[in-house]
Parts: sequence; C-alpha cells; structure tokens
Amino acid sequence: MTTTISVIGTGYLGATHAACMAELGFAVIGVDTDPAKIADLSAGRLPFYEPGLPELLRAHTDAGVLRFTTSIAEAADADVHFLCVGTPQRADGLGADTTHVRAAVAGLVPHLRRDALIVGKSTVPVGTAHELQAVADALAPEGVRVEIAWNPEFLREGRSVEDTLRPDRLVLGVTSEAAEQTLRTVYERAIGSGTPVVVTDLVSAELVKVSANAFLATKISFINAVAELCEATGGDVTDVSRALGHDARIGHAFLKAGLGFGGGCLPKDIRAMMARAGELGVDQALTFLREVDDINMRRRHRVVDMATDEVGGSLLGRRVAVLGAAFKPLTDDVRDSPALNVAAQLQLRGAQVRVYDPQAMDNARAVFPTLAYADSAADALAGADLVLLLTEWSEFLELDPAQAGDLVAQRRVIDGRNALDTDAWRRAGWSYRGLGRPRMEPIVESAAPAAATELELVG
Ligand code: UDX
Repeated sequence: MTTTISVIGTGYLGATHAACMAELGFAVIGVDTDPAKIADLSAGRLPFYEPGLPELLRAHTDAGVLRFTTSIAEAADADVHFLCVGTPQRADGLGADTTHVRAAVAGLVPHLRRDALIVGKSTVPVGTAHELQAVADALAPEGVRVEIAWNPEFLREGRSVEDTLRPDRLVLGVTSEAAEQTLRTVYERAIGSGTPVVVTDLVSAELVKVSANAFLATKISFINAVAELCEATGGDVTDVSRALGHDARIGHAFLKAGLGFGGGCLPKDIRAMMARAGELGVDQALTFLREVDDINMRRRHRVVDMATDEVGGSLLGRRVAVLGAAFKPLTDDVRDSPALNVAAQLQLRGAQVRVYDPQAMDNARAVFPTLAYADSAADALAGADLVLLLTEWSEFLELDPAQAGDLVAQRRVIDGRNALDTDAWRRAGWSYRGLGRPRMEPIVESAAPAAATELELVG
C-alpha cells in the first residue's frame, strides 16, 4: 500500500517538500490556511519562483498523487505528517513566532483516528518539539498515541528541489526506534545513495538547524568584517578571501564578501537563537551573533555611503539604477532583501531610484510600492548617473559593459556582490567600486605597444 504523507504549510519549504515526496512515490496531501495558495497549487501553479519545482508540481498534481486542501481534517489519515509552517520573527521582539507550528499540531491532532507520527521540519527555538509533544498529548483522542519527531530541513531557495531529493545529510530527532524506522523508509532513496544520517534527540535536532544557519551567517560576516579592514587600508577582500578559502579547514563556500545575507532564514534565525539563549540564561554564549548581525547591516549603510560619495556628496535628484531586488539570485523572495533595503535608503536620501529584477518585481512592489520599477535592465540603466549591482543574477553578470555604457549618463558602477568582471567593465570606460576593494578607474588602452617597439628599435 502506498504510504500517504501530509505536509502542513505549503510555502517555499512545504510546497517543495510536498512535490518532492510525490516525486519519491508517496501519495501526498498538502494543507495550508491560505485559500489562494491552495487554489494555485491545486491547479498545478506554483505561487512563487523556484527553478525545477513547477515541473514536479504539475506532473504530480496531474497524476493525482499530489493534492492540496485548506482542511486539516483531510490530512488525518496520512501515515506521516510533516510540519512545514513558517516561524517568522515575532512582531514584539527578536524571538521566533511559533504560533503557526502550535496551531498546526492543535488543529491536526483532534482529527487523528490512529497512532501518528508528526515530523517537524520548520526552524524552531530549541525546546519547541517537547512543548508540541505536550500539546499533542493533551489533545489526542482516546486511545491514539501521537509522537513528535524533528527532521530539520536545510534546503536553499533556488536549489530546493535538488537539496530535498539529494540532501547532504539527514538529521532524525526521534524518541523511539519506530519513528526512526518510519523516517528511514521515507528517505530510503537518499539513504540508499549514501546520504549520511545523524540520529539524535529532539533538542539536538532542533539545535542543528539554527546552529548551521548561525555558522553560515558568521562566516559571511567574518569576511565582511575583513572587507571593512580592506576598505580602511586599501586591501582587496576578494584576494584575501580566495587565499583563505584554499585552506581546506576554512573552504571557499560562504566566504564571498559583499552586501551580506538576507532572506527568510539567516537574519531571523540568528536573532531567534540569541533570544532563546537569553531565555535559557546563557545569553553570553551567543552575544557574538549580535556583532554578526551588526556587521551584516553595516554593509547596507556602507553601500549607501559609497553611492553618495560616488555622485559627489549628495544623492538629491541623482538617477540611480538598482539591478536586483531579490535577496539572492534564483529566487523571487524579497524578505529582508539587502538589495531592496539599499534601494529604499537611496530613495529616502533623495535619489531617483529605478529597480529591476528578473523575477522579484511583484514581490518588491508589494513591499516597497513607492520605489520606481523598470521593465528591463536596459530600462533601469537609461540615463543613470550611477549603477548598483545588488543581486548577482546571471542576466546582470552577462551584461555587455560597452552597451550598458551607451545607456547611462555616467559610467559609474558599484558592485555590491563583487561579481562583475572588473577589467571588462573598466575597459569599457566604467569606474568600478566593489565592497572591500580599492576604487578602480577606467582602463584607458594606452599606446604602450608602440613605445615598446621604439625601445626595441633603440636596443
Ligand atoms: C539558508 C541556508 O543555506 C539553508 O541551509 C537553510 O535551510 C535556509 O537558509 P537561503 O536563505 O535559501 O538558505 O540562502 P543561502 O544560499 O544560504 O544564502 C543566504 C544569504 O547569504 C544570501 O543573502 C546570500 O546572498 C548571502 N551570501 C551567501 C553571502 O553574502 N556570501 C556568501 O558567500 C554566501
């Protein structure tokens, strides 16, 4: 008999998990409280941009093995329930808001008719799984035993299908051997192809996720702190980073200096981890994360100051092209996007900002409706006094600097991601500023070869 899986919460995480579970051969029911989202998903339409996911969604909804509903009661008969609801930053503080995970458990459990395994995937403050077990125990119908397990998700937006189908590790936080076996069956294919499995308790499983994100954030802020030193001394952080990364103990990944991290996970997760440490009386253990957060936020101000400097001290009335709105390429997610934050700050300082992003325009408009949006990169560049590259989409990296130069009023570019081919842009007459790098003037092709010939003749 086909194992049935329910996925509660169908955002970036849940929709991906649901479609990938169907791809693995399970019958899947996705549940969400948002009727618009459910209507889209039921029709095989993905309500956000994620490469590779629309194809899976369409194939499995068409085949009838993947369906969606707003009624949590319909999920009651599934063999395994995955919790994928959001845990955003609380409106009144730095901690994570666990309202939705609690509501999901409280909503599901009274409908259960047989013993059930509820597997949390959402990122939660340590201790949440035990609290959810207490909620489940209190609400379980007579004779029904509910077990909570924790199986954190490490998927990256933009690569979520690959990360879900071929994860680099599986963490199974369980309180019984039966739960471990059930999860090993669900992930049979990945385990069979060599994915390492770490079996642990609930608390450690919860901690793995926040620790992983805190470590990644720390690595990015570390190199951005070095970028600050480079800016004060004339060093080039891209060279420092390259050299550091060759040390196998350090590695190149997440060592790219630039505008820093954003998105729905890293910023909120480090804050929630600090807040939780405070609640547990060990706040000193994580006070360094405040510095990590501060360094990250300072990068945004630094770009605004650089832009002000580039246009001669005042942004008032200056036309600025902002390339990028998503928090990183390959997503339309603008949550805590450094690019949009900078665009908004420039506008507040009086600049005439025009933003373009290949995928995130609608989301950007919804968050910052007063910014001006261009229809294309070329449209954003037209007449600009300054160009800012803030999200490193390949479309921007592939721009022809000579053609781009013909569109702007001034060939000045700030590369907030240290991603452009500096020499190509400089040879096309652009002045170039990266983050943590010296300012670079345009390269003017000199008559050097002729001079060399003269010397040879003399010799
Ligand atoms: C992150 C984690 O990687 C993932 O495991 C977790 O499940 C969710 O959070 P995501 O938010 O999708 O994933 O983005 P990620 O690719 O990790 O990038 C995070 C941010 O760091 C982006 O804003 C990116 O631009 C920035 N970044 C990344 C850098 O500034 N420098 C780097 O070297 C790498």
